[in-house]
Order: sequence, then structure tokens, then C-alpha cells
Amino acid sequence: SQSPLRVLSVIDSTNSYLKLNTDLHQNGAACLAEAQTAGRGRQGRKWQSPFGASLYLSMYWSFIGGYQAIGGLSLVIGVAVVEALGKLGIEGLQLKWPNDIYLEDKKLGGILVEVEGQINDQSHCIIGIGLNVQLPESVHEEIDQPYTDLTHSLDHAIDRNHLAALVLDLLQQHLHRYEAEGISSFLPRWQELNLFKDKPVRMICGTNEFEGICLGVNQDGALLVKLATGTRAFYGGEVSVRSL
Ligand code: ATP
Ligand code: BTN
Repeated sequence: SQSPLRVLSVIDSTNSYLKLNTDLHQNGAACLAEAQTAGRGRQGRKWQSPFGASLYLSMYWSFIGGYQAIGGLSLVIGVAVVEALGKLGIEGLQLKWPNDIYLEDKKLGGILVEVEGQINDQSHCIIGIGLNVQLPESVHEEIDQPYTDLTHSLDHAIDRNHLAALVLDLLQQHLHRYEAEGISSFLPRWQELNLFKDKPVRMICGTNEFEGICLGVNQDGALLVKLATGTRAFYGGEVSVRSL
């Protein structure tokens, strides 16, 4: 079936737009923008969103069940994005738990899942994806970590419309599968793509920090880290992982 798609010019944030426009609250409905004036990352961080330079996309999906039902959602979305890019011949992508897309050890894109209230045991999710296509030099001062875009690491131009169509399509397919079968069938692929697989990492949970070896993810989408005291599962939310 066809899902509504709204293409916008300049907007504060596609996630905010989708949240407010309840006519788009049906599974698979989405919006795209050319630029965002208040693009968001996790934990109130800013997402640089210059005009025409990236994909800024949000999709609505409602899942049956509370937080346990969507524990691995951002991992499934990451796998969908990597597969969409694979169809364009883009290889060497990696995923950084829980929500980042990496290329050549630099940040290429990010995923922001916002849960719009859990009513009648349903989780209403706004799924946001930002993917850099061709960023202007001017963002350099604004991004405080290594980043890249698709144009930089490819020898040919990339068609943003084609990219958008592939991402929307694979997202819908993977979300249907996730809804029906859960995360299991996505886990092997995620483990292969894990940026920190078998590497030493620091886990930052507010003012607490833990050092260990990154083992992979479990059935809840939590990151497993081998600490001196034993293996521990870290759950999304306020946790960040860094290489050591
Ligand atoms: P975490 O591991 O906790 O997710 P993070 O540094 O990746 O940490 P996010 O909230 O996921 O933080 O992403 C926001 C960060 O991404 C910003 O603070 C900035 O460093 C970086 N950033 C902002 N805009 C872009 C962009 N267009 N491309 C790449 N990186 C960006
Ligand atoms: C992150 O790495 O923290 C996630 C970044 C997510 C950015 C996308 S761009 C489209 C959507 N709208 C937003 O305001 N954020 C997401």
C-alpha cells in the first residue's frame, strides 16, 4: 500500500513537524525537508542541517507494546539505512551503538527515535534520520567530532531523490519485519556492522564511567561490554559509548 510522503522546504525539525501533524500518524507516513533550522540529535544536541546538503527524513510508526517492544528499534533502522546505501554501491559503512552511521571512522549520519507517548500499550514513534550527502565547508566549525558525507567518499554524484526512495522503502520493509518477528533476524547483520566490535570502549552513563571490551548487542538491543567485573548490558537512553 502507498504511504503519504510530504516534502517540505525549510522546517525547524522533521521530527517536530511529524509529531505535530497528526494526519501523518499512520505507519510508514513520512516527511522530508531541504533544510532544518533546529535539527536535533540525542540529549538536546544540535544536528547541523544546511539546505540541500543531506537527507532529513522522519517516519511515523506505532508498535504494539511498551518500551520492551521498541528496545532494538534504532538498531533495526541502522541496518535498513546501511542496506539502502548498499543498493547505491556504498560499502564500508559501520554502526555505532545505539544510533550513529559511520563511514571511514567518521560520522555520516544519525538516527533519532522519539517516543510520542505510550497509550493503550502502543508506542507511537517518530523515527528521524539525517544522512550527509554534500555538506558545505561552513559546518566545519559547528561539528565537534570527525564527520563525513557521501560525496566525499564516492567517485560519482549521488541522487538524493533516489537515496530517499531507497531509505523509505527499506525502512518500511524492515519495520514490518521487526513488528512481526522482533529483532533476532537483524542481530547478526548488526554485529557485523558494529564499529567497536571487540574493541576497548568507555561507557559514559551520566557521571559514571566504565571501561571494557565491546562484545556486541543482545536481544533487547542493549550493548554488551566485558568489564573487569564481568559482562554488563548497557541500555540506550542516557548512555554514550566512546573508543578508548
Ligand atoms: P552519542 O554517542 O551519545 O550518540 P554523539 O556525539 O554521536 O554521541 P548525537 O546526539 O548522537 O551525539 O549527535 C549529535 C552530535 O553529532 C553533535 O553534537 C555533533 O558533534 C555531531 N553532528 C551534528 N551535526 C552533524 C552532521 N550533520 N553530521 C555529522 N555529525 C554531526
Ligand atoms: C544523532 O546522531 O544524534 C541523531 C541525529 C538525527 C538527525 C535527524 S535529521 C531528521 C530528523 N529531524 C531531527 O531534528 N533530527 C533527525
